[in-house]
Amino acid sequence: MVLHTGKGGVGKTSLAVATALGAAQHGHRVFLLSTDSAHSLGDALGRDVGARPLEVVPGLVVQEVSALAELDRSWGEIQEWLHALLGGDVDELVAEELLVFPGLEELVSLRAIREVEATGDYDVCVVDCAPTGSTLRLLRFPDVLRLFMEKFFDFERKAARAVRSVANRLGAGRLVAPEEVFDAFERLYRDVESVRHILSDTERTSVRLVVNPARVIVAETRRSFAYLNLYGVATDAVIVNRVLPTEAAGGYFARWAEREREEISEIERSFPVPIFHAPLHSSEPVGIDALRGLAKLVYGDRDPAQRFTCARPIRLDRRDGRTRLEIDLPHATRDEVDVLVHGDELWVSVRDARRRVALPASVAGRAVAAARLERGVLEVVFEP
Ligand SMILES: Nc1ncnc2c1ncn2[C@@H]1O[C@H](COP(=O)(O)OP(=O)(O)OP(=O)(O)O)[C@@H](O)[C@H]1O
Ligand SMILES: [Mg+2]
Repeated sequence: MVLHTGKGGVGKTSLAVATALGAAQHGHRVFLLSTDSAHSLGDALGRDVGARPLEVVPGLVVQEVSALAELDRSWGEIQEWLHALLGGDVDELVAEELLVFPGLEELVSLRAIREVEATGDYDVCVVDCAPTGSTLRLLRFPDVLRLFMEKFFDFERKAARAVRSVANRLGAGRLVAPEEVFDAFERLYRDVESVRHILSDTERTSVRLVVNPARVIVAETRRSFAYLNLYGVATDAVIVNRVLPTEAAGGYFARWAEREREEISEIERSFPVPIFHAPLHSSEPVGIDALRGLAKLVYGDRDPAQRFTCARPIRLDRRDGRTRLEIDLPHATRDEVDVLVHGDELWVSVRDARRRVALPASVAGRAVAAARLERGVLEVVFEP
């Protein structure tokens, strides 16, 4: 599975479609899925795409998943209960409003991934995700749901059993969630867990982060990269989209091109994974031919479906309540390396090069408890 994400408007959809088309040209059977509720696969392809799988070119099937329809499938019971509870005068809005649970919408859509996998008909599933914010919330969602299930849910369910018969007698039965509601929750939880399992399986899933060579976008993407690492989701490449082509980089645009070059070298320092470039086109790359062309510019002759790196050069994990950060620094020696927490970033200097690693909110601002370099790996432990 290859997920494409990044800040809003950077070109995720265009590059997801390009990757899928390129992979199909390399002979793979490809499924292209959009989980962003603001679907735009159709816009990029220049033709209608719906919630049903549709073969657009030989070897490429496309689908825009409807989160609402997916939610209805498992939350039907919950919805019915809410209907009863709220007096039956609520319409579809209820289901829609459940989607405000951060991350739920994406997760529900991502269940479609399991189904694609289950058919066994495809070699690769390319996913056009919502902007990074919701993709990252999606990764956090299973944790929240698990806490809810463990701490609260069991208790609630038992309590509901105890009071249901009394409540029924008092005519207040509709206020107590029936067993089916709990069952629906439990099914959802299992689904969520299995999606998370797929996402954090580095053998099966990788993320392509799409950026533009602009400061704010790079800064946010650095943070996303750290988060993805923290949640164990591997990024196998960064795609820099909308790079000014050399022929456009003179005259009026010369200073822009200069700024871009700085950003691009910042990107190369920030993301220790392969970096691909896509030039700014003179018009929107829309349609199959244009996006095949885009894939060629990005990947050259390489197979877009391949894994460009299996390494996770920055690893974050939590052990005994402490967050540990590991960074591969293969050729560094102890006296060359320096670490410093600077706001919500960790600045790692090796000789005169400095890498800025965005820290997730859970450790930002924490002091470094210990740092050491052992066999080319820098380990930083933060205060709990
Ligand atoms: N390299 C490029 N050169 C010129 N235009 C581009 C390029 N890449 C993307 N575009 C155009 O930019 C617009 C936004 O691209 P796209 O929809 O792929 O971004 P997105 O990241 O998916 O946006 P959203 O966050 O809204 O989903 C589209 O009109 C697209 O055709
Ligand atoms: Mg998009």
